Amino acid sequence: MSAGSSTSAVGSLILGIETSCDDTAVALVDAEGRVISSAVASQALLHADYGGVYPEVASRAHIEKIIPTVRMTMEDGGVRGSDLAAVAVTRGPGLIGSLIVGINAAAGLAQGWGVPVVGVNHLRGHLRSADLEQARVRYPAMVLLVSGGHTLLARMERPTDIVLLGSTLDDSVGEAYDKVARMLGLGYPGGPVVDKLAMTGSDSIGFPRPMLGRGLDFSFSGLKSAVERYIAAHQDAAKADVAASFVAACLEVLIAKCRSALREYPAQSLVVVGGVAASPQLRAAAQELCDSLGVGLCLPPLRWSTDNGAMIALAGWDQVRSREPAALLPEPRLKIETA
Ligand code: KG4
Ligand code: ZN
Repeated sequence: MSAGSSTSAVGSLILGIETSCDDTAVALVDAEGRVISSAVASQALLHADYGGVYPEVASRAHIEKIIPTVRMTMEDGGVRGSDLAAVAVTRGPGLIGSLIVGINAAAGLAQGWGVPVVGVNHLRGHLRSADLEQARVRYPAMVLLVSGGHTLLARMERPTDIVLLGSTLDDSVGEAYDKVARMLGLGYPGGPVVDKLAMTGSDSIGFPRPMLGRGLDFSFSGLKSAVERYIAAHQDAAKADVAASFVAACLEVLIAKCRSALREYPAQSLVVVGGVAASPQLRAAAQELCDSLGVGLCLPPLRWSTDNGAMIALAGWDQVRSREPAALLPEPRLKIETA
């Protein structure tokens, strides 16, 4: 388990709990998005042998780690539960067993401490990750969300006013990264290793650019299959060239769709969030696009790009401020339009 804390003054804080997938992540965040303390129990090693997340293994690990991770975060932050403004917890989308563990823990802790508990949409948490540690996003904003579970473009009028413009019809880009990593024998999660290897290869293969020039929806399963066929037919191909050509295909599609979306719906900021937003190649390509269009690029600090508790706490603040009753039922297929 890893932890970290900063020295910001402890004021009114929300404890954010994230267990939708393979990390048990908890953080204390103030109303301005400053992260007071955080802890993550990563399950990456548990799932490495499977080349993806094994749901049953994930929920068992969450059960084991959730209370120690909360305790570590609260101790680092130096707060008592009864001093919190609320407990915020991911209620979807995600793996049902994993969501239930987080929600049960959050509800029990909040009841014991006598504070409110709010359910949070994981996708909205990612959107808010770009404002962690300092406010960056200017509205209206265009959002590219690229994670293991989702690839979508949305327009944000305000943090809670979101219009979906396009999404993947099949695999997410993160999923494609993970599957390509598996084909190349690089382990899980695939994103960081594929990116690293890609930097040493050349974009010489010319994989397809799915749905390029066709609206704002995405598709990555054809690209994934093209990589699979190529590897089967070229057993001696340099892995680095396969990785570099795959990354180039992903980037070209992602950046072209952002450009089209910004042309159609002018925005002050382009917000790139989700696990794949940790990609240095994507960060650089998005910066280039924004420079050419005169749009501000908003990226979450690297450590808040992949799943974390801080983004859930910040989205929890939106829920608390809206004063609308927050649903707490797990919703594995929760859509980004739903609070
Ligand atoms: O947002 P996230 O942590 O979890 C979901 O909500 O799905 O995203 C996980 C995904 C994985 O597919 C992982 O391979 C990808 O993010 N990822 C990356 C990088 N770091 C993580 N993809 C590309 N480059 C990276 N550096
Ligand atoms: Zn996520």
